[in-house]
Amino acid sequence: MASTDELISAGRLNGRVALISGGAQGIGREIANLFQREGACVFLLDCDARTGKEAAAELTRKNPSLPVRYLHADLREPLEIQNAVDALRKDHGRVDVLVNNAGIEREKPLEKLTVSDWDSVLDVNLRGAFLLTQASVSLFPESGGAIVNISSIHASHAFPDSIPYACSKAAMVALTRNLALELAPRHIRVNCICPGYIDTRLWEEYLRNSPDPSALAEQTTRLHPLGRRGMPADVSEAALFLASSASAFITGTDLIVDGGLTLRAHP
Ligand SMILES: NC(=O)c1ccc[n+]([C@@H]2O[C@H](COP(=O)([O-])OP(=O)(O)OC[C@H]3O[C@@H](n4cnc5c(N)ncnc54)[C@H](O)[C@@H]3O)[C@@H](O)[C@H]2O)c1
Repeated sequence: MASTDELISAGRLNGRVALISGGAQGIGREIANLFQREGACVFLLDCDARTGKEAAAELTRKNPSLPVRYLHADLREPLEIQNAVDALRKDHGRVDVLVNNAGIEREKPLEKLTVSDWDSVLDVNLRGAFLLTQASVSLFPESGGAIVNISSIHASHAFPDSIPYACSKAAMVALTRNLALELAPRHIRVNCICPGYIDTRLWEEYLRNSPDPSALAEQTTRLHPLGRRGMPADVSEAALFLASSASAFITGTDLIVDGGLTLRAHP
């Protein structure tokens, strides 16, 4: 029987192989960091080779017994996705957890949106997640595993200038439910997370460039009933829950992680 110390130190993803798209930075990097700490062997898939390799090297330095590998692929390119998954198959032979996290946004009003804006957002956020899931599903063992999709509160709530992004994120919820039904007989659970405002590099940049950063920071904080904006760790902890056996009987759900932002009818 395991001692208490062993139980405490046992990671919640010990021995699992996790593939995380968009893992070079932001929320995906934080998920990689937590999954590695919890004992997973992590693969970061991204189209930003410099940042992705740096992130993999830094995480590996922190915990050399669990090296993090970088896989290069632009999710808009089906062949690159297949090549990255083939490389993982050669290297490790299996995947237990897939996190479809990569996402982009093009904030523009209706009449300024181009076909290319629409295609880029849908191709990365939705088609990319579909293709990566399709390419990697045969790598899941017979015992199954977990897929965690990163959607957004934009899936259910309208915000200005966000049409393609919102459509991609709403479709991610539908993709989650349909995958959950189809993959349940193979013991693969599929869930998604809908984050609210999360303080990432992009948010910091947006804040810095605003006319009054401290007023904007205070105003967005006040919108949250829990009294603060979200941090990448808030999303990574939810992803860990959905990836681990703690959520063994949960599939097809969408979990809002927004500090209560979307609760109020009248902000
Ligand atoms: N930050 C937020 O407030 C927030 C809120 C809700 C949902 N989300 C979602 O969380 C996810 C991560 O967001 P983030 O804020 O960490 O973003 P981010 O821009 O910091 O990171 C996104 C990552 O995806 C990668 N990526 C982009 N296009 C790609 C492509 N074509 N192929 C492969 N990789 C690609 C980028 O290189 C980057 O490493 C996204 O799906 C986003 O929509 C973010």
